[in-house]
Amino acid sequence: MGLQGIMLMQLTLIGLLLASMAAAAVAQAKPGCPDRCGNVSIPYPFGTKKDCNHSQHFLLYCNDSVVPPKLILGLNLHVVSISLKLGELKILHYVGRDCYNSSGGLVSNNDPMLRLGPGYTISGRRNKFTAVGCDTYAIVRAYKGQERYTTGCMSVCDSITNVINGSCSGIGCCETSIPEGTTNFTVKLSSYNNHTSVRAFNPCSYAFVVEETHFKFSSNQFRDLNNTENLPVVLDWRIGKERCKAARKTETYACKGKSECYEPDDWSGYLCKCLDGYHGNPYLPDGCQDINECDDPRLNKCVKKGRCKNTSGNYTCACPKGYHGDGRQDGDRCNLDHLQVIPVVLGAGIGFMILLLSISWLYWGLKKRKFIKLKEKFFQQNGGLMLQQQLSQEEGSDETIKIFTAEELEKATNKYDESNIVGRGGYGTVYKGTLTNGRIVAVKKSKMIDKSQIEQFINEVLVLSQINHRNVVKLLGCCLETEVPLLVYEFITNGTLFNHIHGERKASTISWEVRLRIATETAGVLSYLHSATSTTIIHRDVKSTNILLDDNYTAKVSDFGASRLVPLDQTQLSTLVQGTLGYLDPEYLLTSQLTEKSDVYSFGVVFVELLTGEKALSFDRSEEERSLAMYFLSSCKDDNLFQVLDKRIVNEENIERLKEAANLAKRCLRLKGDERPTMKEVAMELERMRMMEKYAWIDSKEKEQLHGESSKAYDNDCSLGFTSASFDSLGVPMNDGR
Ligand SMILES: *[C@@H]1O[C@H](CO)[C@@H](O)[C@H](O)[C@H]1NC(C)=O
Ligand SMILES: *[C@@H]1O[C@H](CO)[C@@H](O)[C@H](O)[C@H]1NC(C)=O
Ligand SMILES: *[C@@H]1O[C@H](CO)[C@@H](O)[C@H](O)[C@H]1NC(C)=O
Ligand SMILES: *[C@@H]1O[C@H](CO)[C@@H](O)[C@H](O)[C@H]1NC(C)=O
Ligand SMILES: *[C@@H]1O[C@H](CO)[C@@H](O)[C@H](O)[C@H]1NC(C)=O
Ligand SMILES: *[C@@H]1O[C@H](CO)[C@@H](O)[C@H](O)[C@H]1NC(C)=O
Ligand SMILES: *[C@@H]1O[C@H](CO)[C@@H](O)[C@H](O)[C@H]1NC(C)=O
Ligand SMILES: *[C@@H]1O[C@H](CO)[C@@H](O)[C@H](O)[C@H]1NC(C)=O
Ligand SMILES: *[C@@H]1O[C@H](CO)[C@@H](O)[C@H](O)[C@H]1NC(C)=O
Ligand SMILES: *[C@@H]1O[C@H](CO)[C@@H](O)[C@H](O)[C@H]1NC(C)=O
Repeated sequence: MGLQGIMLMQLTLIGLLLASMAAAAVAQAKPGCPDRCGNVSIPYPFGTKKDCNHSQHFLLYCNDSVVPPKLILGLNLHVVSISLKLGELKILHYVGRDCYNSSGGLVSNNDPMLRLGPGYTISGRRNKFTAVGCDTYAIVRAYKGQERYTTGCMSVCDSITNVINGSCSGIGCCETSIPEGTTNFTVKLSSYNNHTSVRAFNPCSYAFVVEETHFKFSSNQFRDLNNTENLPVVLDWRIGKERCKAARKTETYACKGKSECYEPDDWSGYLCKCLDGYHGNPYLPDGCQDINECDDPRLNKCVKKGRCKNTSGNYTCACPKGYHGDGRQDGDRCNLDHLQVIPVVLGAGIGFMILLLSISWLYWGLKKRKFIKLKEKFFQQNGGLMLQQQLSQEEGSDETIKIFTAEELEKATNKYDESNIVGRGGYGTVYKGTLTNGRIVAVKKSKMIDKSQIEQFINEVLVLSQINHRNVVKLLGCCLETEVPLLVYEFITNGTLFNHIHGERKASTISWEVRLRIATETAGVLSYLHSATSTTIIHRDVKSTNILLDDNYTAKVSDFGASRLVPLDQTQLSTLVQGTLGYLDPEYLLTSQLTEKSDVYSFGVVFVELLTGEKALSFDRSEEERSLAMYFLSSCKDDNLFQVLDKRIVNEENIERLKEAANLAKRCLRLKGDERPTMKEVAMELERMRMMEKYAWIDSKEKEQLHGESSKAYDNDCSLGFTSASFDSLGVPMNDGR
């Protein structure tokens, strides 16, 4: 025996194990009864032993003397499988066959017949009557109950190549249905020509009833079927002939436990099945077992969240706490309770808000970063570093220039609102603003981002940072963070001198005395710029629009954008000609040599403006007199001074002093810079004139004396062009000019 024996034992053990497992899975035989024959399981109501069968026609015989054991139904039907659920039983049955020899003699013949006992019928749905052959016709004679019927089919072909594989339509193979409820049949085969013409490839005819799904026709079947003894046939079995209603009343009613009766056919018999929610053998008392639907997702319709609970014969789905609904896929599923929804929605909302906030925070953060970078860029572009450096060198001065932030100024000017604009010009726009400490300021916003403008701008800051004079507009600070630099000045309330002389409000004319003071103050500033500061500063753009007036008509010189710092050892500076037409020094215009005397010339024009009330450049005048300086000088030459003087300031008292002033102006306007007085001289002269003006009202004698001196001191090129006698006749207003 040895090794082989052990292996065989092992195999047997394994086989037994597998068999018992299969039996446990089905567990369908009556307790204590053999539940299988060979590998065919035998469920109750079938049985192979006395009392193992439900009724007499379910008694089977298992022939153990053959290997594998053969399960026999009736006398000789070989059972290969039994299905409880479908009420079916599969047997093997003979293939009918007629074979011919070359001379057309029938050499073998088999016409099978099948006779079934009560409770069994041949399944009309599951079987087909089939004939195979090329010179064949086959007849099946059957009984449906007591009713006899005959059917059949014919199959012919001339060549094996004619046949169509898979098709039983009369060429090499034909088939026909058999009626439901057939209890017995006989097959009869015939040939037209004893296969004489097709013998070469098909000497035999075949006919059989076969499970439809099992038989697949092909040309090979001509040969193969010769070696096939039998083919499966599906039988229907029923508990009895009774219908459910009648059967329930009988003692032999087969449906046990959690099962029910049903009628699969519409003519006779009944079957049993387990109730929904149970499975097992419905013919056994405890055959139907509760199904745990929850174990198999295919068996329950609970949604994932819906907790499945196995009940007897059914199951329930339950939603977890905080949810409502039935938890079924085909039902309400599980929805959050409203009470829960609110906090969840709230939570989600808050989460979303937080997300939103953090995103926007990030966004603004980035934007701000970008903005700060931009501001830094502007700061550098605007010469901030240079300025900072320059300013830091000037430490010690009591009022240092403040560097404002962009936000500060934006706030002060109400975002540069139109209503805050107090001045507009080629240079840019001036806004009135209020700082947080309440101080009113003027914010000058450069118009262009042009580099030269920015240089000018820085220049102005540098110049003004060196000046501390009561008649110079005080620079409070600047802002370099914006694209265009911004300057912040003290706010001068009363507008420009230009506006007062030439503006609409001519009614509020300023008196000669005030005009003289303005001229004196302006001259004082220029004199200071030229000599009193550590380096010479040339304003370069002296004009009436750059002289501001406060409420007391105190002059405040502004706009040092064009001003130049001239190193002390240099007396003149070569620059690009810059200034305002009408005020521009012709010598400077010709030579591009900038000296302090250019400011003297410009001042001269302003002074003439004060004297005449005429604009520095007027297109109302003839071409050669378009420039006020030219007009004034030619008037002087033609002894026409009186004609050009502002009528609003001239009176009998001051006529001589006006003439004197006109002479000073004339000297300032000399073509050659060298011949012009210095600003200091002009300032001193004007100071003296102011003194005289005061004296004029105090002591006329002294006045005359002073006047006489001044007349002698300077050449009098300018003639009034009329005698004192004719003065009255001209109808000049004789008020005192106040
Ligand atoms: C039974 O065993 C035979 C071979 O021994 C096999 O062909 C057949 O399919 C088996 N039947 C079942 C129902 O397992
Ligand atoms: C089982 O079949 C035998 C033979 O037909 C029969 O005598 C017997 O009564 C049947 N058993 C039952 C429980 O019907
Ligand atoms: C069992 O089958 C064998 C072989 O087919 C046969 O000879 C024998 O008679 C059968 N036994 C019974 C009791 O029918
Ligand atoms: C066919 O065979 C039958 C029986 O063997 C015979 O009677 C008949 O004459 C044969 N017919 C032909 C055409 O061979
Ligand atoms: C064919 O079969 C018939 C009858 O079975 C027989 O008489 C005849 O001799 C056979 N012919 C040949 C060629 O075998
Ligand atoms: C077929 O069954 C019917 C009725 O059940 C019966 O009369 C007939 O004789 C049977 N035929 C054969 C061949 O057994
Ligand atoms: C039919 O099928 C067989 C094999 O299954 C093949 O040998 C034969 O050539 C086929 N015939 C046709 C006509 O396709
Ligand atoms: C078919 O089988 C019969 C006997 O079963 C035999 O006489 C015949 O020669 C076989 N024919 C073929 C083609 O295999
Ligand atoms: C199981 O329960 C559901 C609802 O609870 C019901 O619709 C269904 O018919 C029941 N199934 C069975 C087999 O009782
Ligand atoms: C659930 O199903 C199992 C079968 O798997 C069964 O044994 C049990 O009794 C069932 N539970 C209920 C509560 O019906």
